Amino acid sequence: MGSSKGSAKEIWLPIFTKRSWFILLLIIGSFLSLAVLDSSSQDFIFRTLNYYTNQNTEDASPIQPICDFSDIRSDICNMTGDIRTQGKDIATVFFVPPPDKLFLEEQQWNFSPYPHKDLCPTKNVTVKHLRGPQNAPACTIQSSTIPAFLFPLAGLTGNPWHDFTDILIPLFLASKPLNGEVQFVIIDYRQWFLDKYNLIFKDITRYEVINLDEDNEVRCYSHLMVGLPNHKDFGIDPDRAFDRFDMFKFRMYIRSIFSLPADVDIPHKMDPRPDKKPKLMLFHRSGIRHFLNEPEVVEVVEKNGYELVLIEPQRDDNLTEFAKLVDSCDVLMGVHGAALTNILFLRTNALMLQIIPYGHIEYYADLFYGRQAIEMKLRKIDYSISAEESSLLEKYGWDHPVIKDPDGVNARGWRDRKRYYWYEQDVRLNVTRFEPVLVKALELLKE
Ligand SMILES: *[C@@H]1O[C@H](CO)[C@@H](O)[C@H](O)[C@H]1NC(C)=O
Ligand SMILES: *[C@@H]1O[C@H](CO)[C@@H](O)[C@H](O)[C@H]1NC(C)=O
Ligand SMILES: *[C@@H]1O[C@H](CO)[C@@H](O)[C@H](O)[C@H]1NC(C)=O
Ligand SMILES: *[C@@H]1O[C@H](CO)[C@@H](O)[C@H](O)[C@H]1NC(C)=O
Repeated sequence: MGSSKGSAKEIWLPIFTKRSWFILLLIIGSFLSLAVLDSSSQDFIFRTLNYYTNQNTEDASPIQPICDFSDIRSDICNMTGDIRTQGKDIATVFFVPPPDKLFLEEQQWNFSPYPHKDLCPTKNVTVKHLRGPQNAPACTIQSSTIPAFLFPLAGLTGNPWHDFTDILIPLFLASKPLNGEVQFVIIDYRQWFLDKYNLIFKDITRYEVINLDEDNEVRCYSHLMVGLPNHKDFGIDPDRAFDRFDMFKFRMYIRSIFSLPADVDIPHKMDPRPDKKPKLMLFHRSGIRHFLNEPEVVEVVEKNGYELVLIEPQRDDNLTEFAKLVDSCDVLMGVHGAALTNILFLRTNALMLQIIPYGHIEYYADLFYGRQAIEMKLRKIDYSISAEESSLLEKYGWDHPVIKDPDGVNARGWRDRKRYYWYEQDVRLNVTRFEPVLVKALELLKE
């Protein structure tokens, strides 16, 4: 969490100068005439008394700690009052105490507000809790009525799973209840991200998105949150979300954003033609975890009565058109990987067919995609490949722990697990072994 000066607890600065004593006496004097004063004056006097006598009454209670670094996913500073942003060069947020409060020491935090903090640092933000208003830069733009969220768009974005897990779902959950009355202040600005998800951004904010990296203004807000709460991997915890929102509702929301029909049966069931084949989208991967025998895979899919759409999604695809294409499919099939995030565009009861690479990584296949498919009211079938279908066998042989002892390799931690089973592995699907899965899928679609 970077350098953190002072404790999180604020301390009143007792001011017992001669002048203060004089003022105090004056106040006590006026205190005697309370009986003839109205109640708002009484309030004033009590507040003033609290200020000068450092009493621990409710009125004098310190401002809550503004930053919380305890969550495993996101570091957050949530501020209400007088907050000012400065962007160029170093992103800085000033929290200005009210004029009647002074703090002993300035506190500051320097951290990456990426809402998946264990994974990938982005540009840092410095949040400064000032001693008093005298050190604050003067506002050039006053946006005091709209709350603002400050977050980065770099990190692992560009991978659709991370686009949704790290940014879009947390941002949606924080913003949607505000009915568009929120401004986004972005560091590590990425124009492609705003273009790609333009329809979502337009739905959750009515205001211009600020590129803080290039900002010459001092923007003043009355509420600003740095960082975004992030519940879980590609998921939502209804207990923490507005309206007990969940992934099923989120899929419905995404469908509405991309103008897909709300809740219709899968395309195969909607089509009255008896010879209409169910449509299967097969994800081509050109990098890691690709099919070494894709023509054979294509052949077995088509042989089993599916209409095949072979595709490799690209970052700059027109998402409206891509969503429509996914919506027209009954099955999404692919090796465990980010392309499966597109299950968001499927219809209820459509099927996700996940090919799980070798290495006893079913737990992760389920954690990152499987349970979401179920929560979203989709169907799913997993196919775990055997050692013979993995390029790791050719590379390491039967006697290597990577093949012989996946549990042992997994137990060594994420680095080894990722290296072997996620990054070094390609798939040669045994189509004989795989074929029954396509038969079973067809039965499910007809149910
Ligand atoms: C941030 O502060 C606002 C205003 O006090 C509050 O409504 C909101 O729940 C807080 N959010 C978080 C994540 O702490
Ligand atoms: C940025 O913040 C992280 C914590 O999020 C910290 O570990 C790192 O040292 C900071 N980097 C710089 C350059 O201050
Ligand atoms: C994406 O495609 C839709 C539908 O064809 C079109 O209306 C929209 O303008 C396109 N968006 C971009 C950014 O090209
Ligand atoms: C492919 O799978 C079938 C059925 O499980 C099995 O009999 C066959 O040996 C496998 N082929 C290879 C090359 O592993």
